[in-house]
Amino acid sequence: MAVDASDFLPERPDDLEALRAAARDCRGCDLWEPATQTVFGEGPHDARMVLVGEVPGDREDREGHPFVGPAGRELDKALEAVGIARSEVYITNAVKHFKFEERGKRRIHQRPDAKQVKACRPWLRAELDAIGPEALVILGATAAKTLFGSTFRLMAQRGQPLESDLAPIVIATIHPSAILRGSDHASRQSQRDLLTEDLRVAAQALAARR
Ligand code: URA
Ligand code: SF4
Repeated sequence: MAVDASDFLPERPDDLEALRAAARDCRGCDLWEPATQTVFGEGPHDARMVLVGEVPGDREDREGHPFVGPAGRELDKALEAVGIARSEVYITNAVKHFKFEERGKRRIHQRPDAKQVKACRPWLRAELDAIGPEALVILGATAAKTLFGSTFRLMAQRGQPLESDLAPIVIATIHPSAILRGSDHASRQSQRDLLTEDLRVAAQALAARR
């Protein structure tokens, strides 16, 4: 069995469409088999901003597009609040296949383990290389640890520019699904405020570059 996704990368990894096509057949880890399909990143190849989530959810797995379920709706709201159109950003995930546990008829999301995240990293690297964004927004601890290592502490480092060769502007923030996990209206709203605040930092840094 392949040890990671690198065996499946196309000859021209700078071509986003070639990447997307090749990722359909990735067998770089064991997640492809129970999942419906690869959920690759989407957005313009010349996007100034790339957002990276964790792993597709149930809806994303069925529909084949990133962030189209409840977490995606939260993300859309936050983007809108800071004046960024979803159509102008590229949205992807650290891991491209849905990971779940079946409980009766329901498929419960599971967090990918470190091996799966590592196996999938060639796709994310290739997407970032192909797009070369000015701003990179990292959604949640899984994506942050994928790119910055396991010592990254999201709540200590969120919302402030991070030094990295990944992009001129790099901001980490909470995952939109943290909002959905809030137990009451007030806690959901405070998570929502964090996401919006951090996205605003990224949006303003991007605006200042022109
Ligand atoms: N959560 C993610 O991290 N990514 C998606 O695409 C959907 C939900
Ligand atoms: Fe390949 Fe990533 Fe899917 Fe694993 S999760 S099979 S590495 S695309």
